[in-house]
Amino acid sequence: MRCSVVLAGLAWAAAATAARRAADGECPSYTDYSSVPHGPYSSGEYRVPSMRPPARCRTFRSATVEAVIQNVTSAMHDPDWKQLFANIFPNTLDTTVAWHDDSGRDPYTFLITGDITAQWIRDSTNQLLPYLPYAAQDTALARLVLGLVNMQAEELLGYTFGNAFQPPPRSGLAPSENGIALDLDVVPPFNNNTVFEAKFEIDSFASFFQIATAYWRATGDHAFVSAPAWVPAVTSILSSIRRLQEPTYTADGRLNKPLVEYSRLTDTATETQFGGGRGNPVRYTGMVRTLFRPSDDATIFPFLVPANAFLAVELGRLGAMLREIGVAPALAREAELLAAEIRRGVLEFGTAVHPRHGRVFVYEADGYGSSLVMDDANGPALLSLPYLGFVPAGDETYQNTRRLALSPDNPWHFSGPAITGVGSPHTGYMKVWPMAVAMRGLTSDSADEVAECLDMLKSSAAGLGLMHESVGVADPAIYTRSWFAWCNSLVAQFVVDAMARFPGII
Ligand SMILES: *[C@@H]1O[C@H](CO)[C@@H](O)[C@H](O)[C@H]1NC(C)=O
Ligand SMILES: *[C@@H]1O[C@H](CO)[C@@H](O)[C@H](O)[C@H]1NC(C)=O
Repeated sequence: MRCSVVLAGLAWAAAATAARRAADGECPSYTDYSSVPHGPYSSGEYRVPSMRPPARCRTFRSATVEAVIQNVTSAMHDPDWKQLFANIFPNTLDTTVAWHDDSGRDPYTFLITGDITAQWIRDSTNQLLPYLPYAAQDTALARLVLGLVNMQAEELLGYTFGNAFQPPPRSGLAPSENGIALDLDVVPPFNNNTVFEAKFEIDSFASFFQIATAYWRATGDHAFVSAPAWVPAVTSILSSIRRLQEPTYTADGRLNKPLVEYSRLTDTATETQFGGGRGNPVRYTGMVRTLFRPSDDATIFPFLVPANAFLAVELGRLGAMLREIGVAPALAREAELLAAEIRRGVLEFGTAVHPRHGRVFVYEADGYGSSLVMDDANGPALLSLPYLGFVPAGDETYQNTRRLALSPDNPWHFSGPAITGVGSPHTGYMKVWPMAVAMRGLTSDSADEVAECLDMLKSSAAGLGLMHESVGVADPAIYTRSWFAWCNSLVAQFVVDAMARFPGII
């Protein structure tokens, strides 16, 4: 996810992309291309435009993915959804594979987030997840995903606490200026030629584990284990996680030395951290502290509950995979131990009793008894707990939490004539994130609710044929980010899931 205050960086990055594309030979900047509709248009009520870039300008081509588009759209009756799905499902492959080196034993893939020429750990994992079911039948697609696993390992080994990275120097792509380098005070220090943003977010760790284990489960291949960076990166992350469970104060009342700090001169509260960059004090709970949320906004209480839940699930999957493939048994044990401690911490310290909704998962906690009641549209979110695999959808505490998150009792839930759902402090008041609408559908077993989510998503495209970061509750033409690949991937995943569960729904 990007931060909207980094507008200077955004403009720089867009300009850099445009310059590179032009040098490659007349391919339009996709930031510009995605901001205006292109024909032909669908024959439905919304006249959905065709938003795929010209074939010669697509960044990765896959006959398998074209066949999936054919198969899925031919099972639909809604002409608008046929066109919309054909735009969004391949969007990551069409537009974001900035660099892919498949020349050696270990492939590498640098995947940009969309309108910023940098790779977010979380976004890049989610951008590729919808293609994994087809990777076993398509070696080139599998190597693209393996390349991302290897790339993320190299990035996190280089700087364990980054959320977004620059293209590797050997790609020949220029690093992007993010405009915030001058006023930062970050511990440990980082190199801005390799790190695009140094915000420490624990869901980056979980996303790094997730892409590896999901790739292995889909293909049976675990070649990343023998690439140079993966085992060292996992080792370094597990020992950092252990340190990040530590309380702020030692048992005899001294200040513990923090592992990470982030502070910055800014007029935006969510762009820096409390306590000169350490974050607010915490007690030991088993949970792991984080300085920033998946929105790249600062946490208020450092134990971000949905991110800890996600980390517990993915550490468990990591441990199980390592045991099954017979690699690094000590790492497998440590991953499973940490998973159990974090899970216990979430269940003991990550819930509270709400006057109207009963026992709910809270968004953030500190181990002293304080907690923050809200949900944010960015994943991992409380709404996504069953999607992540932390609880079954029928779990009572989850169902209470879901009711709260989807009601005015969530301070970041908005409703209007155009769209209703969860938004984020990241984009401000009265804006709903289509991604949260897709997550509501993915975690619902009601055909009516799923259909309602699909309808809102269809109208949220505002005639531009792609999903946006946030849209105004009264008017989807007031939106942020014309080119946001993660959202396109997640909504496409929801469409495939909805059609499998409710044939004929669109
Ligand atoms: C598309 O559908 C055909 C016919 O059902 C099937 O044989 C093929 O495997 C499908 N292709 C993909 C990529 O799902
Ligand atoms: C890195 O930071 C320096 C200042 O410390 C700045 O001059 C330079 O432009 C930055 N480079 C990038 C790629 O952001």
